[in-house]
Amino acid sequence: MSRFNQNADASHMLLRDSEWLLPVYARFPVVMDRGEGVYLFDTSGNRYLDMMAGLGVNALGHAHPRLVAASNDQVTKIVHLSPQYCTPYAGELAERLCALSGMSGVFYSTGGSEAVEGALKLARAFAQQNFSSKKHRVVSLLGSYHGRTLGSLSVTGQAKYRDDFGPDLPGADFVTREDLAELQAAVSDDTCCILLETVLGEGGVYELSKEYLAEARRLAYKHNALLILDEIQCGLGRTGKWFAYEHAGITPDVLILGKPLGGGVPLSALLVSSELFHALGLGKHGSTLGGSPLACRLGLAFLDAVEEEGLLARVTETGAYLKQRLVELAADNDVVEEARGLGLIQALELTVPGRPIAEAALQKGVLLNFVQGNVKRFHPSFLLEKQHIDTMVEVVRPLLQAASSESKQMEATLATR
Ligand SMILES: Cc1ncc(COP(=O)(O)O)c(C=O)c1O
Repeated sequence: MSRFNQNADASHMLLRDSEWLLPVYARFPVVMDRGEGVYLFDTSGNRYLDMMAGLGVNALGHAHPRLVAASNDQVTKIVHLSPQYCTPYAGELAERLCALSGMSGVFYSTGGSEAVEGALKLARAFAQQNFSSKKHRVVSLLGSYHGRTLGSLSVTGQAKYRDDFGPDLPGADFVTREDLAELQAAVSDDTCCILLETVLGEGGVYELSKEYLAEARRLAYKHNALLILDEIQCGLGRTGKWFAYEHAGITPDVLILGKPLGGGVPLSALLVSSELFHALGLGKHGSTLGGSPLACRLGLAFLDAVEEEGLLARVTETGAYLKQRLVELAADNDVVEEARGLGLIQALELTVPGRPIAEAALQKGVLLNFVQGNVKRFHPSFLLEKQHIDTMVEVVRPLLQAASSESKQMEATLATR
């Protein structure tokens, strides 16, 4: 029997969504009602272990008491006002983010793509102010993901996402991850920035090596280009350190943050080094909804929770256990190519499509997320416990075994033809 809620109301809502929402997402036939910690509940009361965390946004799980208290209080005061006015929260959050990262100034926007857009504009502006408009090229990685707006899409190294939307923004130079020679050849005096995800997320979860990041840092200095790290997915504690670049011992000129920053309310941030503080001058950039009092207050509550509840250490410890269990799954199952990643950004790469596995896991009460069709990406809440990982493994193991038998059967059938 199906576990999905199939009451008349849920069926009506699913049908209404399919009639009125553009078919951009591969959606699942379930209507979620509420969340609590690492669990979601559908409108029939079925419970699901959320290993997806809203694509990495819900780092504090669902309905975290600090976020609930801060938002309940703030919505009765001011939710939004023009960014031209000061409230107690935007400045404090910026000061704390800069203290944590060593950066010197912050610009807020709403989502990741918008922040990447801001970073590209800043890199161009800085190059034009100090060098020439010829210095506009952007070096980024094949397989990277930086967003869906035209600028961020143009520097996303996956042609499948850019198809249909050309012409791209000019000046994107894509290079192969970890190929130092290709990077050295691509960066020139015409490069205004090198844009890297410190851990590639949507592209399949690949951590950039210390050597690669150090070389990018060196080349950026050499050619007066900015090193921009897009840590929208891997930053803010997900690797067990506040920022993933800390593992490599380098610092960027520009750091982009998003996803969990606003505690679930849209908030992204562009953090810049001191020499870039004035690169986006008065009236040169903006975001009506960026840095709202509600989002920034939740941002402060998020930082408080990570600090006061010891979540960085917890991510490191739970991440190590997750890695151990994923490595076991990889050893036991021939449809698993590799287990990789760190902290709570990890992946299992399969040799079979992921969608049927995600659908079957949902039936068994576990939300899984696949990228690139066959890479199971784990970026759960920082509140995840070892027992949750064990539950997930219990659900996933037989699904992988079934996928393995199916693919062997298929191979056998093809061999007899
Ligand atoms: C590294 C990275 N950059 C940019 C984005 C785009 O963010 P958004 O979807 O909030 O626009 C994402 C989203 O997944 C991301 O992972």
